[in-house]
Amino acid sequence: MTSAPQEPLLRVENLQMHFPIRGRGLFARTRGHVHAVNDVSFTIRPGEVLGLVGESGCGKTTLGRCIVRSVQPTGGHLHYRTEGGGTVDLAALGTRELRPYQQRIRVVFQDPFSSLNPRMTILQIVGDPLVANGLAHGSEVEDRVAEILSRVGLSPGHMRRYPHAFSGGERQRVNIARALILQPELVIADEAVSALDVSVRAQILNLLRELQDDLDLTYLFISHDMSVVESICNRVAVMYLGRIVELADTDQVYRRPEHPYTEALLSAVPRPDPRLRGTGRRVRLSDNFPDPANPPDGCYFHTRCRYADKERCVAEAPDLRAVTGDHLAACHHSEALRLAGVVSEHADESR
Ligand SMILES: Nc1ncnc2c1ncn2[C@@H]1O[C@H](COP(=O)(O)OP(=O)(O)OP(=O)(O)O)[C@@H](O)[C@H]1O
Ligand code: SF4
Ligand SMILES: [Mg+2]
Repeated sequence: MTSAPQEPLLRVENLQMHFPIRGRGLFARTRGHVHAVNDVSFTIRPGEVLGLVGESGCGKTTLGRCIVRSVQPTGGHLHYRTEGGGTVDLAALGTRELRPYQQRIRVVFQDPFSSLNPRMTILQIVGDPLVANGLAHGSEVEDRVAEILSRVGLSPGHMRRYPHAFSGGERQRVNIARALILQPELVIADEAVSALDVSVRAQILNLLRELQDDLDLTYLFISHDMSVVESICNRVAVMYLGRIVELADTDQVYRRPEHPYTEALLSAVPRPDPRLRGTGRRVRLSDNFPDPANPPDGCYFHTRCRYADKERCVAEAPDLRAVTGDHLAACHHSEALRLAGVVSEHADESR
């Protein structure tokens, strides 16, 4: 007997986040909207690492902020799996009902230097979610902090120190400890290794992998760095101007992309080993990233796409659809194009 497919942990449906642009002055009118997240649908499966990639300003952080409801989405649904086996729409919950889910979904932010309060000890920083949610007090907080510090590779003896005593990598371990102290299910890592040196980055990526295995975590791993995403993610969603334009298993996306934007991102991935370089030449993307308050008609990518035609691409927005199997792409011409990918770094292991 085959087992039934597992229910998604989170099903994002037609999510929209449009920020109003206001003129100056107290009674200024709204002059338009920034379309930061535009009709986005995807699922996160329990136990997976789903990557979310795209250029700066494409809406990655906003999408993460919608999921943890630090902003209220302007449209759509966030169906989250409940303990009873049903789902609840996080987008529709009030502050009080949201609280248990905000404990189950935690965020690790990018900058280990600015995200830790310099006047708080590591004990206060890491223990704060426990205290703020009334889940522990006194020596129990210390015990839980000591345990999680050991888990992330820090000494419990560091508890009384302040952030300035730590290196960038150690501070990011503190950030991770704070995210994990409430034993979440889903961790949104937003550019969690982007500010770190290459060698420290590798250590933190290893730590995130180990923690995922040990603690049964699911990650939404947000990054603009295609190499980092390849190294840690099972599946990848590529975002452009507030929309997901490609979504598939990591290997499929990297080896055989189905969207011209993904091809362009991949062509810029540095591959020092010539055996791992792709077949395609570097695709230079023009700098004219469209204004998210005034996106182009038709396919949002047509103003920068080297395959755009002058009829359909400029007039009709492509849906995100299955091109082959469960490889999704939003391009009218995916079947006709043979786009260049890169050879997987991990192919090396099987040689
Ligand atoms: N609070 C806000 N009010 C108005 N516009 C916003 C707000 N937050 C984000 N935006 C806009 O929404 C768009 C998406 O921003 P977002 O920070 O989500 O992008 P990102 O993909 O995370 O970029 P980066 O890689 O630089 O972190 C941008 O145009 C940004 O200026
Ligand atoms: S729909 Fe047209 S413009 Fe858009 S990515 Fe495909 S070929 Fe390029
Ligand atoms: Mg961001």
